[in-house]
Amino acid sequence: MVKLCVALQSPSVNEIESRDRVLVERNCLVVGGGSIAPGWGIGRAISVAYARAGARVAVADINLPSAQETVDIIRSEGGTAEAFPVDVLDDTSIAALVSGATGRLGPIDVLHNNVALSKSGHSRDTSAADWRRIQDANVTSLHVATQAVLPGMMERRRGVILTTSSIAAHRHLGYSSLAYAATKAAAIAFTRMLAIEYAAYGIRANSIVAGLIDTPRIGVVLRGAYAGCTLAEMKERRNKVVPLGRMGTAWDIAEAAVFLASDRAKYITGTELVVDGGLSATVPH
Ligand SMILES: NC(=O)c1ccc[n+]([C@@H]2O[C@H](COP(=O)([O-])OP(=O)(O)OC[C@H]3O[C@@H](n4cnc5c(N)ncnc54)[C@H](O)[C@@H]3O)[C@@H](O)[C@H]2O)c1
Repeated sequence: MVKLCVALQSPSVNEIESRDRVLVERNCLVVGGGSIAPGWGIGRAISVAYARAGARVAVADINLPSAQETVDIIRSEGGTAEAFPVDVLDDTSIAALVSGATGRLGPIDVLHNNVALSKSGHSRDTSAADWRRIQDANVTSLHVATQAVLPGMMERRRGVILTTSSIAAHRHLGYSSLAYAATKAAAIAFTRMLAIEYAAYGIRANSIVAGLIDTPRIGVVLRGAYAGCTLAEMKERRNKVVPLGRMGTAWDIAEAAVFLASDRAKYITGTELVVDGGLSATVPH
């Protein structure tokens, strides 16, 4: 009898599927939707996850073939996506992206800023030019892209702006990342202030604070920070410090992004969702 009741109360497979399709009829623009090297970068997983949730996705990246690869994955699953080139260091390129994506897909409902540059090595080796480039890519571009989508969102009185930040904003990760960390903290402040300024228009803004994530990027930009380690040893060291016993995957971040982009998070704005396997609740030991 109990079994029957549980069975009757359980949602059907179709209901489960439709419950997961939380972004149907939404147009999402993911800036940095490719991957620095072959595999699942965070922006690629976010783009595919948005499409699986029913969204039409504009995938933008400085590496157009990489953005196109993301689009090909989405289309192979029956989703709708278009690839766009963009260089977030160039304001006119961002403006062209937003107008191109709006023209092809329709008004942007969700802007996800996911690009980041960094420079490994001690901060004394970070020149003022390096610093400005990292600030421009990781912070100024948030402002430029947001300014381009806001008028449409204000007119429709809805919209979501998400930023991929990092626990580097809050704590030292065991290697030098001064310029990068400062931009990730700025991204959090930017997103919070934005949320308050535009709350009256029904626009929400939040950051995802990602922990140590196992993406192709770590094998490219972080090797110097783990000098003397093979890639496998480096991954092992990163896995070991996380309370849940492993680095996150790009999909762990993508799941959080789908939630925050959807109406399920309709009362969540001006804050951060930490996705780090418990890392930021620990002290080094
Ligand atoms: N991997 C991690 O451990 C980790 C941890 C915390 C936060 N993050 C954040 O997640 C985001 C994605 O990281 P990822 O690991 O997937 O790295 P990634 O380097 O693969 O992703 C960044 C994407 O931005 C693109 N890009 C670079 N410069 C660009 C430019 N000038 N204009 C447009 N696109 C440009 C790259 O081609 C790449 O596809 C970043 O914001 C990063 O700071 C990553």
